Amino acid sequence: MNILVTGGAGYIGTHTCVELLNHGHDVVIVDNFVNSEKESIKRVEEITNKKIKFYEIDILNEKALDLVFKSNKIDAVIHFAGLKAVGESVEFPLKYYNNNITGSIVLFETMKKHNVKNIVFSSSATVYGMNNISPLTEDMPLSTTNPYGTTKMFIERILTDLYNSDNEWSIAILRYFNPIGAHPSGKIGENPKGIPNNLMPFITQVAVGKREKLSVFGNDYNTHDGTGVRDYIHVVDLAKGHLKALEYTMNTNKVEIVNLGTGKGYSVLDIIKAFEEGNNLSIPYEISERRPGDIATCFANTLKAKKILHWETKNTLLDMCKDSWRWQSNNPNGY
Ligand code: NAD
Ligand code: UFG
Repeated sequence: MNILVTGGAGYIGTHTCVELLNHGHDVVIVDNFVNSEKESIKRVEEITNKKIKFYEIDILNEKALDLVFKSNKIDAVIHFAGLKAVGESVEFPLKYYNNNITGSIVLFETMKKHNVKNIVFSSSATVYGMNNISPLTEDMPLSTTNPYGTTKMFIERILTDLYNSDNEWSIAILRYFNPIGAHPSGKIGENPKGIPNNLMPFITQVAVGKREKLSVFGNDYNTHDGTGVRDYIHVVDLAKGHLKALEYTMNTNKVEIVNLGTGKGYSVLDIIKAFEEGNNLSIPYEISERRPGDIATCFANTLKAKKILHWETKNTLLDMCKDSWRWQSNNPNGY
């Protein structure tokens, strides 16, 4: 199949393109490189020994997007393109609503126009909000604490309404938990601009000497060691989940929401320990204040993914720690 991957130059997009190409699909990437580098696409080509067609386009640009659909016979879309920094979304809500929501609407309109009605969408466990108790199931009530999360909640709703208006659409909405790790080749990985917001890239930047020490945001949560517990998922497992979701959309005409996680929760201190032991390194850290908006515990119920996508994760926490470090140590300054 010929798959249009929006945001395909980013962290999860590149890993998913590797899996698509390795499974014999063709890939067309649309990305404006606002949070990525062209080099990442080259690296995917190196890993797979295949060529990728890419367009440097903003998904808000209706005319340019239309031309992509006119020039390529697209079978399905995997939609990663979006801004994802929680703190920045609080500061610049309109930027987030415009980029993520308006951008998605332009994409869906263009798909409709060209009669492409299969889509896999990147949502987030952030839509479960602060009040649900883990393990989180897909039918729990949603709420959000920041504009980024609200964009995901709205886009989920838009896709559901779209399906309800026209059952020819086939839609998989994937709620990711915490993607970490990198391709085992060490050629592609997470490449945050500026100071990393997320735990694993911060740890790897401390390990490589770019940051002095990690701040652990709070050790007075109601968890086994007081630090926040999350469901960390290897990005290659996550990428494989997209292939299963794509297959699912090709064989059904439904809208389905599915968690992609491991179902296991690890604390911040568990992650530091696993990273240190797995890579024979020491990570200096200090305990600091809680980060506003953080919850104690967040992990997935994974039954639906197993049942309808026939997918589950394979990589261990040790794999995630080793692969994250291989990427960072091979590429101390990113791409
Ligand atoms: P990323 O920033 O690495 O990738 C997103 C890509 O989209 C980037 O290459 C960026 O340049 C591109 N992009 C953004 N706005 C665009 C626009 N208007 N037009 C064209 N391209 C645009 O992020 P990622 O970690 O790979 O995340 C991919 C998706 O998964 C995002 O939608 C994100 O919100 C979602 N998600 C990520 C996480 C996570 O922790 N990484 C968790 C849950 C959900
Ligand atoms: N943490 C630290 N120090 C840091 C960074 C994080 O102690 O420097 C802690 C956090 O407090 C939390 C855990 O590490 O307990 C994980 O934090 P991340 O920022 O890596 O991940 P979050 O769970 O907060 O959020 C991530 C994405 C969101 C997404 C959510 C989905 O950043 O975009 O997962 O579950 F919505």
